[in-house]
Amino acid sequence: MIKAKITAQNPSANLRSYEQTYQFFSWSDVEKEFTWYQTGKLNIVHEAIDRWADDPDKGNRNALIFEKAGQSTAYTYSDLKRISCQWANLLLQHGFETGDRLFILLPSCPEVYFAMLACARLGLVFCPLFSTLSFDELEERLENAKPRGLLTHPDFAEKLPYEAMNDVKHLFLTESPLPGMFPGEVLLKGLSEKMPAGCNTCWVPGNTPLYLLYTSGSTGPPKGVVHAHRDMIGLMITARYVLDLRPDAVLWTDCDPAWVTGTVYGAFAPWLCGATSVVQADPFSASTWYRTLERHKISVWYKTPGNMRRLKEAGDDLTGRYDFSHLRHIASVGEALEPELIYWFKKNFKITPHDTWWMTETGMICIANFPAMDIKPGSMGKAVPGIKAAAVDENGNPLPLMTMGELALKPGWPSMMTNIWKDDERYQAYFKNGWFLTGDMVIQDEEGYFYHQGRTDDLIKVGVKLIGPYEIERALCRHPAVAEAAVISKSAKPGAPFLKAFVTVNRGLTPSARLNQEIKTFVRADLSSDIVLKEIAFLESLPKTRSGKLLRRVLRAQELGLPAGDPLNIKDY
Ligand code: WT7
Repeated sequence: MIKAKITAQNPSANLRSYEQTYQFFSWSDVEKEFTWYQTGKLNIVHEAIDRWADDPDKGNRNALIFEKAGQSTAYTYSDLKRISCQWANLLLQHGFETGDRLFILLPSCPEVYFAMLACARLGLVFCPLFSTLSFDELEERLENAKPRGLLTHPDFAEKLPYEAMNDVKHLFLTESPLPGMFPGEVLLKGLSEKMPAGCNTCWVPGNTPLYLLYTSGSTGPPKGVVHAHRDMIGLMITARYVLDLRPDAVLWTDCDPAWVTGTVYGAFAPWLCGATSVVQADPFSASTWYRTLERHKISVWYKTPGNMRRLKEAGDDLTGRYDFSHLRHIASVGEALEPELIYWFKKNFKITPHDTWWMTETGMICIANFPAMDIKPGSMGKAVPGIKAAAVDENGNPLPLMTMGELALKPGWPSMMTNIWKDDERYQAYFKNGWFLTGDMVIQDEEGYFYHQGRTDDLIKVGVKLIGPYEIERALCRHPAVAEAAVISKSAKPGAPFLKAFVTVNRGLTPSARLNQEIKTFVRADLSSDIVLKEIAFLESLPKTRSGKLLRRVLRAQELGLPAGDPLNIKDY
């Protein structure tokens, strides 16, 4: 563990004294800042958009700036109010009712945000999906959530699993041509603009579902994590304290809107603070990224270590050619932020990146480095005010400081998921001894800083996506020659997973180089394009516990030359 400290970057940030704020913090104080505290009428869109749009001084401020291929389009708070009302009217016209789901299968584009806001306004549940999802992944999600509508682009219509879309009444398309493959096709271009610009916002109880996001588990299909309108309390306060947003801030959350970071910190969180959110939809290139920073005078940048590594690889000389004078804060999330990256940014941007930790299920940043607090490189920071965090043992009992254990959070923060869609058993499995268990291993030092030590399960980070080996294994098992499969990542290098599969073949078949290649090609067609299975090895049998649970960590240990222990003595859990 690194003992070095980097002195606080900005002593006059929104959160000035961490200790004091943490000690006296109460969620009910934050609630008082929302209009519903007075009126009793609650909806996240009212707090995020309408209350600024209706204020003559603030309505014309930019809420969203969308940038693609050198073109940028700005939407003020008033624009977003109008457009989201028009979209809401359109959904109403198509028979949507409170609780109905809308799937959004689109790459980053303004329509994603319009749809999210329209759904929220009506008490509908939106479900953003990565546009790289495969046919099978889409099928699984459609069958699980049974949405009433799906919003997409004609380019994706081809890969839709129409057999799984019996409950889908409407296929909304952002552009023509209509593919003519689905009876309920609706072309949005020209249609939403004709809708009335006023609408009645649906006032909802705080625990009303707002969005549904699928996340991987180490066993079973992906879980539908459900978040509610009351998340706004946690989103606003973390945007203020961790991202240090003020109404004049221009935040660039450099993440896909289908990833929870993009869904909430690219949209609702900055808007709850009355700030501007910039969305960049171009493919990555260091010069495009630097131009976006300069052009939009970005002041706060929230991103992933993966993306930061690519900027570092593009070299030091490029950074000097742009004006980053408006940039005052950088935060990162998704995987451990290695000290080398911190020092590279510190040198080239004169700003220290601040690591933050959270997960889809927590709904908001829970562990963070704050701008007015010293940083210890290698640490993801301290518990956010209002969050009680500890390292616990396998029975859910808190461990002494400087001892490795599972990161656990005391339930009660407002942005925690409300349930797992149609799967209470998997929801309940998150809790033990009064704690919410995260699956991440940590050590907490004497000053309260947490250090990430990997995961307790077999989940693998591919880019920013947390993927379950189970999903790849299932794709492998669909090949007629494969009997069983286990998938691990054999790389210890940050940001570079190396996916390797171990398979056994069905009786009577002989492994061969040709079969190996054939299986590889077969699974490629079944997986998202960003998941690359690099190696397949044939085994006689896979290591398992006595009760038959797959022991991927034994394979991982063997692969990396680490002691694996005797599989039969490894206890079940
Ligand atoms: C998992 C959650 C932000 C939401 C984004 C990810 C890993 C997240 C860090 C960090 C090391 C991190 C954890 C966590 N993770 N932040 N700062 N350092 N690991 O959401 O896709 O639900 O993934 O990402 O393992 O459990 P997610």
